[in-house]
Amino acid sequence: MGKNKKDEKKKKNKNGKNGHDGNGNELINRLNCALSFEYAATIQYLQQQCAVKGQERQQFAPFFAASSSEAHLHAQNLGNKIAALGGVPTIEPAEIRQGATLAEMLRHDLDMERKALAAYVKAWESAQGNHPLVFWLEEIISEEQLHVDELEKLNSAYS
Ligand SMILES: [Fe+2]
Repeated sequence: MGKNKKDEKKKKNKNGKNGHDGNGNELINRLNCALSFEYAATIQYLQQQCAVKGQERQQFAPFFAASSSEAHLHAQNLGNKIAALGGVPTIEPAEIRQGATLAEMLRHDLDMERKALAAYVKAWESAQGNHPLVFWLEEIISEEQLHVDELEKLNSAYS
């Protein structure tokens, strides 16, 4: 007498990877958007570190080198997070720009940092409800905001 067969229909439960149901793809896409900016920043700063010339090289080569390393580290952390969430980290960098002068380089960097910040904020919006991820993103966002602040100051002196 099989009466109480509640589980006669074994649900496949296709949606919901690791508890992220619904907007999982939007979140991954937005995280990948931020990742593409980190890749691009890694290369853009690296090229600038090599290319910056003249008197300002002494000050700016270390700044560009440190910025490239930081973007690289952010890319690693973010790529690992995307994979941990069940996504596939992108291999596509965002647009990388080459400046002919220091002023142009700094303008490109400010533009890049603003776009990266905006991409992280978008990801943060999609992460609502996942508190650990929200906190993780907030830490990064506050660091990205500092980069924007710094580059705004540098741009005001060199533009
Ligand atoms: Fe970053």
